[in-house]
Amino acid sequence: CGIVGYAGARPALGIVLDGLRRLEYRGYDSAGVAIVCDDELLTEKKAGKLANLEKVLSERAATNPDDCAASPVGIGDGTTGIGHTRWATHGGPTDRNAHPHLAPDGRVAVIHNGIIENFAKLRAELEDDGVQFTSDTDTECAAHLLSHALAELRAAGGTDSPQLLAAAMRVVCRRLEGAFTLLAVDAAIPGAVVGARRNSPLVVGRGEGENYLASDVAAFIEHTREAVELGQDQLVLITADSIEITDFDGQPATGKDFHIDWDSSAAEKGGYDWFMLKEIEEQPQAIADTLLGRLTETGEIALDEVRLSDQDLRDVDKIFIVACGTAYHSGMVAKYAIEHWTRIPCEVELASEFRYRDPVLDRSTLIVVISQSGETMDTLMALRHAKEQKARVLAICNTNGSTIPRESDAVLYTHGGPEIAVASTKAFLTQLVACYLIGLHLAQVRGIKFADEVGAVVAQLQEMPGKLRELLGRIEPVRELARELKSEPTVLFIGRHVGYPVALEGALKLKELAYMHAEGFAAGELKHGPIALIDQGTPVICVVPSPVGRGMLHDKIVSNIQEVRARGARTIVIAEEGDEAVVRYADHLIYVPRTPTLLAPLVTTVPLQVFAAEIAAARGHDVDQPRNLAKSVTVE
Ligand code: G6P
Repeated sequence: CGIVGYAGARPALGIVLDGLRRLEYRGYDSAGVAIVCDDELLTEKKAGKLANLEKVLSERAATNPDDCAASPVGIGDGTTGIGHTRWATHGGPTDRNAHPHLAPDGRVAVIHNGIIENFAKLRAELEDDGVQFTSDTDTECAAHLLSHALAELRAAGGTDSPQLLAAAMRVVCRRLEGAFTLLAVDAAIPGAVVGARRNSPLVVGRGEGENYLASDVAAFIEHTREAVELGQDQLVLITADSIEITDFDGQPATGKDFHIDWDSSAAEKGGYDWFMLKEIEEQPQAIADTLLGRLTETGEIALDEVRLSDQDLRDVDKIFIVACGTAYHSGMVAKYAIEHWTRIPCEVELASEFRYRDPVLDRSTLIVVISQSGETMDTLMALRHAKEQKARVLAICNTNGSTIPRESDAVLYTHGGPEIAVASTKAFLTQLVACYLIGLHLAQVRGIKFADEVGAVVAQLQEMPGKLRELLGRIEPVRELARELKSEPTVLFIGRHVGYPVALEGALKLKELAYMHAEGFAAGELKHGPIALIDQGTPVICVVPSPVGRGMLHDKIVSNIQEVRARGARTIVIAEEGDEAVVRYADHLIYVPRTPTLLAPLVTTVPLQVFAAEIAAARGHDVDQPRNLAKSVTVE
């Protein structure tokens, strides 16, 4: 979910809606706002995308300009507000379950990201006390609890002030279990928004005469570049000119100030129809930025934050790479490079499975967690499990100040800039680059690779932005092919070695964006079952490795292509420029620039991204916000 809060002197509604627009990639099942104006609380919420809410708000403005009965101003005039865009967990994506949730008197509004795990117990208690629930959400508990806490504090002599709101929220937080970011406002306390976080993201934006709260900085980047990172189990109270942070017991706490160096235009579409297309085009730059300054003067690979000694890394005898979705596929590629360069056994695991199978971990295990957002709950929980078992954790992440890098022993940031489209593109390629750098770093620390060898791979990596630009410059035939295949019932992808995870990623992209049946296979495994899927004309996208270096692998996949062709498949072959051997087996041939085998996913993935985006657009889907998905999934 995406969360925004504002306290200042300007009308809050527009600011909150703009923030929600920039956070909509975090979920778009419903959207809602609560604005405090004078002593009234004005709310609106609607199932579906933010556009639905905006439509209702404009209708409301048109039909009833003075919609705040007790006030001369309308919802557009209040200067304190909160807003929410939802990825549904408890309760379906309906108007009723949309946030904000209100206390029965309609004076207190709460929005929430996460899952309150003891909500059934809390709800039963509240119902025993006669509270009637109006939604199926866990969040509504927090609204009732907050309203009760405020009433009790007032009854005990507390007077209305921002501090009273904060004190009441602390009472609520102490009762909640699970993961939450909560924001709340009270009509009786205009000018204040309180926020709290446990295991869910929340950052503060520090403005001039105004302050912001949000799930991530994208929400307020156009207003301020100064931000404050909150720690675990902290509460923050903002007014127009103050930011007060405490723990849940009310002890003063300090956040960590940071400056946001993202260009705010990075979060704009900049003339493209979709963010995804813009982000695909940004990949050469994203890779160049991720490589920038990584090689020290003495030829060593530098990580960003290292809370581990070289000896710790020398002691590593086993590596697990843990991630979800597209990041998991980058981990699969990394396994080939890391094992090849370091000779340390390396396994790749889905974060959601990792801790539940009781993996064997100890001090000499290195866990590499990969996460674009740095907030994915499955990955975070895997990280914590690993740390409990005393394993060391190294994070690859795109989001400065997020939870995963903060809790890791070492970090390498991918400098991809904000990725807004839900389907990951530039984050994936930069994750690959980061994985290569980590493989080289480990090999170097352990004395297996030396500055000149590492320098040679880095030089090859540095050629990649140019190669990608060239490839993107002649990608149009892929678009044409996509339009031609837009009505196919199924598309299969095959690859070997690092081409196998590329095949999986290609299929995932098509599922995510085009809602088509798509599957990726290890090409050699096809004959053991999946080949039965091939029918006359079934499109099979074949990711072919370079004939140079690992020629045997190349020849093997050429045989696999013949196998599917013999069964009627329509073959779409992605091969290295100059590879003549594949020409006769390809119904469609897409050449990519020559690249050393281990680095090839940096080029072979790109046509598959373009293919999926184009099919989705041709089928009339929302390319940036595919149904049922969210970019940052902060529940397990
Ligand atoms: C979600 C997104 C995927 C993403 C995955 C991991 O499921 O829809 O696109 O790959 O999370 O996200 P992360 O931020 O941890 O890389």
